[in-house]
Amino acid sequence: MKVTVVGAGNVGATCADVLAYREVVNEIVLLDIKEGVAEGKALDIWQKAPIDMYDSRTIGVTNDYARTAGSDIVVITSGLPRKPGMTRDDLIATNAGIVKSVTEQIVAHSPNAIIIVVSNPLDVMTYVAAATAKLPRTRVMGMAGILDTARYRAFLATELNVSPKDIQAMLMGGHGDTMVPLPRYTTVSGIPVTELIAKDKLDAIVNRTINGGGELVKLMGTSAWYAPGSAAAQMVEAIAKDQRRVFPVCMGLEGEYGIKDCYLGVPVILGKNGVERVIELQLNEDEKALLEISRGKVKEVMDVYDNMPK
Ligand code: NAI
Ligand code: 2OP
Repeated sequence: MKVTVVGAGNVGATCADVLAYREVVNEIVLLDIKEGVAEGKALDIWQKAPIDMYDSRTIGVTNDYARTAGSDIVVITSGLPRKPGMTRDDLIATNAGIVKSVTEQIVAHSPNAIIIVVSNPLDVMTYVAAATAKLPRTRVMGMAGILDTARYRAFLATELNVSPKDIQAMLMGGHGDTMVPLPRYTTVSGIPVTELIAKDKLDAIVNRTINGGGELVKLMGTSAWYAPGSAAAQMVEAIAKDQRRVFPVCMGLEGEYGIKDCYLGVPVILGKNGVERVIELQLNEDEKALLEISRGKVKEVMDVYDNMPK
């Protein structure tokens, strides 16, 4: 099994590292446009192998797509990250150009690959990759929901002083201020979270989750990478090992939740064919209203891309 990670920056290199040390696949190609960066990081990851005891190999290349040929899965992290004061949407023009050209080259060399997009603004970049790749919608998806849900779960674990392993949660919608955390679908080992935590505290956690990316940008001057890199690797693992994990994943909706022609995070089963099934939850009226706000916001940015000179 061969995986290419495009972009050897913070998120891409972290993703490649997790794929290697967890031996998710045996061949990882890390590609970047900056001369020597991917080669250096891949070599560093390989030199860690005798310490951390793994034998997956990471190879670094500078813009050489021939070396990515025959990849089963490709993770696209190339693009600018957010700086303080920037929204994810500010990145659209630059990152759309990068994601489009990367996708063209990926598909030319690996026509059967499943593509996982990480670059921001996430939902719209997934749309850009899907429109460029022209693959079935089940094979081009975006990573955001696993990260946003992980932040939510981590905050709940801190508040309740329990292991994050025991917190299960679901979250939907776009990756941004309109994401829709779902307390009704959040449990601590099966116990509804609403039985364990006061409403004002839960509301504050939901709010912190929504602003979770921005909190880290403010602290570090750039966006996060450990959790995002691991989240992308977890999606790769679910596909590579046909695990049929249930995750929130960004994909093109064609009528699910009453939504068409929009890229949004929804719960899916992830397996060897990519999205094996979209799970349709019975949302209540408040949740539906929040999802509609999220859809409107993402669609607005999709329209910005559609109207950009190409
Ligand atoms: P970074 O700046 O550390 O790395 C980006 C890398 O992409 C750089 O090494 C750059 O040389 C490379 N690159 C640029 N153009 C390229 C091209 N045409 N071909 C190949 N490589 C190219 O940024 P970081 O922190 O790794 O973030 C990457 C992207 O992921 C950003 O757009 C960021 O906003 C996004 N992100 C998304 C998250 C999500 O939940 N979906 C979470 C965190 C980051
Ligand atoms: C994050 O959520 C900025 O999308 C990036 O960390």
